[in-house]
Amino acid sequence: MVLTSYTIQPKKSCILNVCMPQMIVSTMGTPIRSGKIRNSKEKMRLIVAAFAGIVFGVFLGLSFPTLSLTKMNLPSSLFRSINLAYVDDKCSKFGTKSIRHTWASFMGDRSLSNGHHTLEVPKIWVPSNPRGAERLPPGIVNSQSDFYLHRLWGLPHQDPSIKPKYLVTFTVGIDQKDNIDAAIKKFSENFTIVLFHYDGRVSEWEQFEWSKQAIHISVSKQTKWWYAKRFLHPDIVAPYDYIFIWDEDLGTEHFDAEEYLKLVRKYGLEISQPGVDPSSSITWQMTKKRDGGEVHKDTVERPGWCPDPHLPPCAAFVEIMAPVFSRDAWRCVWHMIQNDLVHGWGLDFALRKCVKTPHQTIGVVDSQWIVHQSVPSLGNQGQAYDGRAPWEGVRERCHREWTIFKERMAKAELDYFQGMGIVPLNISS
Ligand SMILES: *[C@@H]1O[C@H](CO)[C@@H](O)[C@H](O)[C@H]1NC(C)=O
Repeated sequence: MVLTSYTIQPKKSCILNVCMPQMIVSTMGTPIRSGKIRNSKEKMRLIVAAFAGIVFGVFLGLSFPTLSLTKMNLPSSLFRSINLAYVDDKCSKFGTKSIRHTWASFMGDRSLSNGHHTLEVPKIWVPSNPRGAERLPPGIVNSQSDFYLHRLWGLPHQDPSIKPKYLVTFTVGIDQKDNIDAAIKKFSENFTIVLFHYDGRVSEWEQFEWSKQAIHISVSKQTKWWYAKRFLHPDIVAPYDYIFIWDEDLGTEHFDAEEYLKLVRKYGLEISQPGVDPSSSITWQMTKKRDGGEVHKDTVERPGWCPDPHLPPCAAFVEIMAPVFSRDAWRCVWHMIQNDLVHGWGLDFALRKCVKTPHQTIGVVDSQWIVHQSVPSLGNQGQAYDGRAPWEGVRERCHREWTIFKERMAKAELDYFQGMGIVPLNISS
């Protein structure tokens, strides 16, 4: 909380010839910690206090160049408690340089007048920096990254400026290399390609020219959602408008990624997937490709499956095999992925919690569609025990994770609403 940096309560309510309303000054003295803000009265007070803080800060910044020390008449402890960085940050529009200069000379003067002959270097503390980076000047902070490649020589600004706007990831084993090679051809040069190798066989992909520009991440026997949680942090994939997180067994003969994204934009889809060929083994009606249209956002399921036609699996729903997320949707979904639930089962039913109007912004693109080939892949790499095939144990874990996820979500929502003093009628379905 920014306000806690004003730890000293000024004795006077008039500072630098500005008389602060007494109410505001006392609010600033109230120890507001980063805890919950329970009611609107407190919220209001916080807003008023924050506003006063900003006005105060701006005024302070503006006043410095014209004030002499003797005229300031402030308790010196107050000055120590107002940190330079905050003033600096908030006043960047009002001549940061001059403030910095003035502050530096002020600090110098002060230490001299105190009889200390060492020049104190002002400390940096920028609360608006990312957490943990407050000691850095904001100009040096790079809080986000990308998968753009750079060369080892020349000057950085001379590096090839290929900056793809979209990202596609496939979680692959070498057995599917031809299918993936075919799929990659459906993604233009505007895509960064990331391959997650669950079988540890990376060098065999070198036979493909595109593979040299791809990002390869290899960890043995891990799932798509395990990788996504570890390597697709929203701050890492921040430059990409859309993120495809796809399985390896998808037939892309009738799919083109650029055309797909045109429709995603046209229909305002935050979370989407291509329609799935109806002759594939389809689980849900929603993801089944429809003839004739471009996009659909709802469906009719078997009787009794959809008590609410706006909710999954009848709307606001795509599956986890070939989802496409907008940058904003992914920032939310990433936070919802649990570190220990690696198969992602149940995630599809919860995706809607990450967008504002789920039944309008989650949909299936029919005119760019895929075939689900359902080849046995990672699912087969479980462990045989008790006379059961490897895939059985994996399948069982999928179901268990689904149950665990549902329970966690329900509890989290209940905890939240109870904490807010709200009794929800019907949470988490
Ligand atoms: C890649 O993006 C650029 C800029 O949006 C666009 O002009 C170009 O057509 C795209 N490439 C393909 C193959 O669609």
